[in-house]
Amino acid sequence: MKNKIVLTGGCGFIGSHTCVELQNAGYDVVIFDNLSNSEAAVVEGIEKITGTRPIFYQIDCTDKAAVYQAFQKEGPIAGVIHFAASKAVGESVVKPLLYYRNNLTSLMNMLEAANDFHLKGFVFSSSCTVYGEPDEGRNPVDETAPIKPAMSPYGNTKQIAEEIIRDIENAGVDFKTIILRYFNPIGAHPTAEIGELPRGVPQNLLPYICQTAMGIRKELSVFGDDYNTPDGSCIRDYIDVCDLAKAHVCALNRMVEGKSQDKVEYFNLGTGSGVSVLELINTFKEATGIAVPYKIVGRRAGDIEKIWGCVDKANNVLGWKAQVPLKETLANAWRWQENLRKKGVM
Ligand code: UFG
Repeated sequence: MKNKIVLTGGCGFIGSHTCVELQNAGYDVVIFDNLSNSEAAVVEGIEKITGTRPIFYQIDCTDKAAVYQAFQKEGPIAGVIHFAASKAVGESVVKPLLYYRNNLTSLMNMLEAANDFHLKGFVFSSSCTVYGEPDEGRNPVDETAPIKPAMSPYGNTKQIAEEIIRDIENAGVDFKTIILRYFNPIGAHPTAEIGELPRGVPQNLLPYICQTAMGIRKELSVFGDDYNTPDGSCIRDYIDVCDLAKAHVCALNRMVEGKSQDKVEYFNLGTGSGVSVLELINTFKEATGIAVPYKIVGRRAGDIEKIWGCVDKANNVLGWKAQVPLKETLANAWRWQENLRKKGVM
């Protein structure tokens, strides 16, 4: 019998790509999503790619009764991957309670369910945001880098969530947890059937680049060219979303097969290389032929100057490695943007 996995936030950007990879790896997938920042049509996109429609519940993970009812209905579940969370850094500064309530209540409900329904493993979506601005010379950051005070309520929910997980694992729950710290996920599935669908004006770099290339936005603002980096713009580690999705399969396999060595394990997920904002704009041109108009403006409050990940642990222990070249990732994101236009979405 196939192992069944619950994906919360499975209609979202990373969740939908992970659903595809789990199904390709032979897992049955059950999605819980309240559709607050995603569309039910994503389920069709997943079905088109894999030939299998995941089971879908439109439920909010802060609603414990609804979560438990779905678990009861679905029978034995092997693991949970918990993506569901609010994730806009700026919004979290304006509406902190919304972020604390939503992100932490849903986490606690899922952890309780994981224990009560005797799951084997729990994967939590965390972020390199927990490292804050790495000390000079500390890049690439590895998993032992110090956790810095969070720059936003959103970032704080990730730190508190990691602490809650450590505490319940120390208290002796029966399942293991893997915490995945993502660097900057970008791209789309190569079929262009699923991708990122930001609501309103995109806050993240690549969706803004794609919408500018499409003519939806007039020009991109590059936030600062006076940083202490080779070209003055900020540096990030941009990881292809399909590569990222595959790491979740490796993490789940590890727990389901009983290979975890600790109750909680941490893995950075990135490429191991830093790319600047200006380099990304140039590589986008190489990948698509489109020169995105941009202007340099002032720094964005709260931005980190440079961070990229040491991914040796994920390479060696999970047996996972980022593989998609950046150009291909950017071409896939653009194809998805073109598909949105074809469908009349934007
Ligand atoms: N940027 C621009 N113009 C834009 C948007 C972004 O120049 O219109 C720049 C930013 O200043 C930054 C880089 O592009 O230097 C990347 O910015 P993103 O907003 O795409 O990503 P961040 O690294 O700021 O944030 C991401 C996630 C957060 C997560 C964080 C962890 O969006 O959820 O990584 O560091 F917390």
